[in-house]
Amino acid sequence: MYRTHHCGDLRIGHIGQEVSLAGWLHKSRDLGGMTFVDLRDRYGKTQLVFNMDTDKELCASVRKMGRESVLQIKGKVRERSSKNTGMATGDIEIEVAELLLLNSAKTPPFTIDDNTDGGEELRMKYRYLDIRRDKVRENLIFRHKVSLEVRKYLSQLEFVEIETPYLIKSTPEGARDFIVPSRMNQGLFYALPQSPQTFKQLLMVAGMDKYFQIVKCFRDEDLRADRQPEFTQIDCEMSFIEQEDILNVFEGLTRHLLKELKAVDVQEFPRMTYDDAMRKYGNDKPDIRFGMEFGELNDIAQHKEFKVFNAAELVVGIAIPEGNTYSRKEIDKLIDWVRRPQVGALGMVYVRCNEDGSYKSSVDKFYDQGDLAKWAERTGAKAGDLIAVLSGDKHKVRAQLSALRMEMAVRLGLRKADEFAPLWVLDFPLLEWDEDTERFHAMHHPFTSPKVEDMAKLDTDPGSVRANAYDLVLNGNEIGGGSIRIHDKEMQALMFKHLGFTPEEAREQFGFLMDAFEYGAPPHGGLAFGLDRLVAILGGQESIRDFIAFPKNNAGRDVMIDSPSVIDPAQLKELGIDLK
Ligand code: AMO
Repeated sequence: MYRTHHCGDLRIGHIGQEVSLAGWLHKSRDLGGMTFVDLRDRYGKTQLVFNMDTDKELCASVRKMGRESVLQIKGKVRERSSKNTGMATGDIEIEVAELLLLNSAKTPPFTIDDNTDGGEELRMKYRYLDIRRDKVRENLIFRHKVSLEVRKYLSQLEFVEIETPYLIKSTPEGARDFIVPSRMNQGLFYALPQSPQTFKQLLMVAGMDKYFQIVKCFRDEDLRADRQPEFTQIDCEMSFIEQEDILNVFEGLTRHLLKELKAVDVQEFPRMTYDDAMRKYGNDKPDIRFGMEFGELNDIAQHKEFKVFNAAELVVGIAIPEGNTYSRKEIDKLIDWVRRPQVGALGMVYVRCNEDGSYKSSVDKFYDQGDLAKWAERTGAKAGDLIAVLSGDKHKVRAQLSALRMEMAVRLGLRKADEFAPLWVLDFPLLEWDEDTERFHAMHHPFTSPKVEDMAKLDTDPGSVRANAYDLVLNGNEIGGGSIRIHDKEMQALMFKHLGFTPEEAREQFGFLMDAFEYGAPPHGGLAFGLDRLVAILGGQESIRDFIAFPKNNAGRDVMIDSPSVIDPAQLKELGIDLK
């Protein structure tokens, strides 16, 4: 038997017991006559004591062992003379009687501690060492708990977890597919699923009624802190339901997770239309934990002498709380910030809201105190605030001001990791105009149903048609999205037509789904949560990488296994692929 206890187990009550432990040598300190070693495993750390006077040989041999050596020890638990309250096992230590080196270790390339000296790339290359650090290990265990609670919650509502295939045909979720050549069908390719969308709809036609799956999805898209090329969804679908049913089930799931894992009772689960989210926050995933709502100023800022505003489609501002304390230099820096290419504003007009109720703006030449007072009212600015105003093309300006709002919230410490504010965003547009291809794309995916009351506009004003589509936003992050689906073959054919598919193309790609719709497809709908994002946000972070055991870097590479990599020419030949 390697061990009687784990390294996090022993307490005062174990004093006097003979125990054996196994783990990694975390740290050792030589104090002349004594050597103290922290032995670490997944469960914690325990202090070991080696005494030069009582066992010289043992003491000498542990002094030769490097960090991260794998040890097995036997010894007696005793009370520590100076207790460590910061450590669960800090009341005791083990007086070691036997020591066995199970495996030696090279000096690790970075320190295995909370404050490691290892950079991101190095930690990724030696991810198995990184996972030994408390923080990363805890994140993975937390992820496991979230998955477990999801499975419990949905199973209790009679959802059935069903696996769908990974070697499939392209699913149109808006990103590029990863493709896999077929050896047995040379010249043909599988695609890895961007989501199990069509399969879960087929499961509804099959009568499964309530499906879920914690499932890997693959998308070949540019990576960001909250995006990985392979990521995990909590994917769900239900039959004979309306939007309200789905919102209720997943509101329930989110409440359950917050309660079980964070001990947080969320009171409010507000809803907002997509149009309102864009108008008030310039963003379809607004962080509503703080104010700084947009104030549109067109009617009060245009038709004066200021040409920049007069030429703009939208003039819009926010009040930055206590921003009037900014020096001229600081404001200039803020202007430089919004002009960075990543944000892209041409400039920024500002208004200082003085404590005496007066205003001082960068456009005093064109606007009097009465005008500026109206701007303050519109943006909700109080004395002491700074109003920041941007103008230009509606879509661009909203995105730019939203970036400024989020940046200011970070600087002002308003995005608190332990505060949770979920929000449903509803009534997304059905279609989105794509400048590059000059045609409409499905904003969610082509299986999403339009709102009945907007159907008539499909021919006349397709861009204004709203969908039965919804997103769940948590702290300014889109953690889930879904829709009520089309379940009628004619309607689905019409949708493909609006998306620019010829009947032949639609048949070629989605014939299997349209055929299935002819055999009694029930009304259905669903949603998918991004598990990685959900776990990261519940864990108080926005980057999903540290909640994934073996993530890819920003270039989509796994630097540990060195992938993607070159394929052996013989393997390519077998697949019928000639790279020349
Ligand atoms: P959608 O494309 O909105 O919907 O994806 C659902 C959720 O998955 C997460 N997500 C990602 N997480 C990490 N890395 C990525 N690259 C990534 N892409 C998406 C997001 C997102 O909200 N089939 C539909 C769902 C449905 O209609 O039922 C779908 O996949 O949190």
